[in-house]
Amino acid sequence: MELIVARHRADLVRARRGGAVALVPTMGALHEGHRTLIREARVRADQVVVSIFVNPLQFGPSEDFSRYPRTFDTDLEVCRAEGADVVFHPAVEDMYDPSRQVSVSAGHMGTIVEGAVRPGHFDGVLTVVLKLFNLVRPDLAIFGQKDAQQLSLIRRMVADLDLPIEIVGAPTVREPDGLALSSRNRYLSADDRRVALALSRALRAGAAEFTVPGILAAARAELDAAGPRLGVDYLVLVDPATFAEVSESYAGPAVLAVAARIGDTRLIDNVILTLNSG
Ligand code: PAF
Repeated sequence: MELIVARHRADLVRARRGGAVALVPTMGALHEGHRTLIREARVRADQVVVSIFVNPLQFGPSEDFSRYPRTFDTDLEVCRAEGADVVFHPAVEDMYDPSRQVSVSAGHMGTIVEGAVRPGHFDGVLTVVLKLFNLVRPDLAIFGQKDAQQLSLIRRMVADLDLPIEIVGAPTVREPDGLALSSRNRYLSADDRRVALALSRALRAGAAEFTVPGILAAARAELDAAGPRLGVDYLVLVDPATFAEVSESYAGPAVLAVAARIGDTRLIDNVILTLNSG
């Protein structure tokens, strides 16, 4: 089946076939992590739609919107190779009416952890994701676990707004040395990349411990060992449903999440742990 490129919402309507539709929302610059999302979609649905849209609403004024990698021709090859049916690639003007007024609020959870460092980011994410859901009308949508807070907020939005869409989380894909795949990794010099390995090292060190203070101390020690070139924004152990920090007596799944800057590049990573399981 030939890959359809839909640039306008009307093209999406024309491309629609019967059967279950899976949406893989992306901002392009596709890598192996995205490939696994598309493969997962292929297994679960009759029609796979990949959206490629660098969403201005989720970037702050001093963030990397204009330099965010745009590699549309290679992205199309990736989508073709992984058996996607439709690529939705709208222009910013087609997605956002200049006179628009209404957007989605991510609530309190959108203002903590990653949201505290990037004010408004999650409102922008949820607004574009809801628009993509309305335009594509998927039965299910697949997101990477690497953006753990984004995934939790999307689940929250689906529950709170009664959206009839199944949300599937897919595990983080890593380089052999542990670095989580990210479209922003291409900004890193060889030296930056060595410093960046402290993130996954910290998560592994934390995951080897059993208590909340032990986990945080072990992870922090690895981040500190990376030296001053690693600017840590946060290291937290949170409840995946709320992103509130867990207490020492907390039992259940927890996300150990880290964000750090290396020069102009900001990376995030996380691992899911089970605490006090008895
Ligand atoms: O994870 C991303 O690439 C983006 O935040 C998303 C979900 C495509 C919304 O722009």
